[in-house]
Amino acid sequence: MADNRQILFASRPRGWVTEENFRLVATPLPAPAEGQVLVRNHWLSLDPYMRGRMDEGKSYATGAELGEVMVGGTVGEVLESRSPRFKPGDRVVGALGWQEYAVGDAGAVAKIDTSVAPASCYLGVLGMPGVTAWMGLLDIAQPKEGETLVVSAASGAVGSVVGQLAKIRGCRAVGIAGGAMKCAYVTGELGFDACVDYKAGNLYADLKAAVPNGIDVCFENVGGEIFDTELRLMNAFSRVTVCGLVSQYNATEAYAMKNMRSILVNRIRMQGFIVSDRLELWPRAIGELSNWFTTGRLRYRECVAQGLQSAPAAFIGMLKGQNFGKQLVKLWGQTTNGAVPEHAS
Ligand SMILES: NC(=O)c1ccc[n+]([C@@H]2O[C@H](COP(=O)([O-])OP(=O)(O)OC[C@H]3O[C@@H](n4cnc5c(N)ncnc54)[C@H](OP(=O)(O)O)[C@@H]3O)[C@@H](O)[C@H]2O)c1
Repeated sequence: MADNRQILFASRPRGWVTEENFRLVATPLPAPAEGQVLVRNHWLSLDPYMRGRMDEGKSYATGAELGEVMVGGTVGEVLESRSPRFKPGDRVVGALGWQEYAVGDAGAVAKIDTSVAPASCYLGVLGMPGVTAWMGLLDIAQPKEGETLVVSAASGAVGSVVGQLAKIRGCRAVGIAGGAMKCAYVTGELGFDACVDYKAGNLYADLKAAVPNGIDVCFENVGGEIFDTELRLMNAFSRVTVCGLVSQYNATEAYAMKNMRSILVNRIRMQGFIVSDRLELWPRAIGELSNWFTTGRLRYRECVAQGLQSAPAAFIGMLKGQNFGKQLVKLWGQTTNGAVPEHAS
């Protein structure tokens, strides 16, 4: 019988997460009980929120327990079904974790339509990150035609969709990203009006030049100095959607904001949100995203690591900005060194 390779949460990071915080193990293939399915995961999603789950203490979600399989979104194929809702061969999305196979309750996975988009897209542009962009921008910030939007981590899974949705709404879309290549992609491929390279060393001046009419909507993915700088350029009665603060997730000391006064003098409305809070909006969001996707109005890029064993390094790299597009792990198939991962069939 085949083994199931899993990556466990081995130890809590203090500051930066390291590969030693994870452990790769092999366990017997699980068997589904009544009402469950056995899934062979094809793709694993790596997302910044996983870093928060590795911390002790209260957050919006319960932290991960040491020794557990790392939490994570997956897309795969049903191998065995003990539910009338699924049959072998069905492609499904779920949160089955950092492992090659998993048993899940039938209610915890959903069928995907691979005639609309490749399976991996259901972890990116048509999955949780896409819905995050849709919810934070269209439901919370509600940008109006002609307004200026700024989004940080603009070339990433969420940010890339935010800017494209803002363009669909008739806004001026300005991104902030790390490096000239990412910025060229954001304007050239994704169609943003401008993109500021925060690593170039002139963030305030470059952002000011990119938003000649100030900022009406700030979609915040990064926090720290980037958010502090954006606050200096916000317009009266503007909105901030706080989606993420990725620059702070591994920090041992929180960045001290200097420009909070802008919130008062500009009467800024600021709201944080968690995409899982409003599950009732997901079908509408995925429906609209799918329509824009199939009509060519939503572009995306993936950054693919090969094989389960590469997940810890790819996760750390993503938190350092080494990813270019949605960070995924392809669990089966060719590895970068040409070898086929163990247990591949
Ligand atoms: N609220 C929710 O429900 C929800 C759901 C999903 C995601 N999120 C948040 O959305 C944000 C984006 O997530 P994602 O999945 O789309 O990830 P992503 O943007 O694809 O990848 C993370 C990116 O963050 C940027 N980054 C990392 N450290 C940085 C730093 N110190 N300064 C500036 N940029 C830095 C890097 O881009 P550069 O190379 O451009 O620096 C990196 O590529 C994260 O904050 C995440 O927590 C929130």
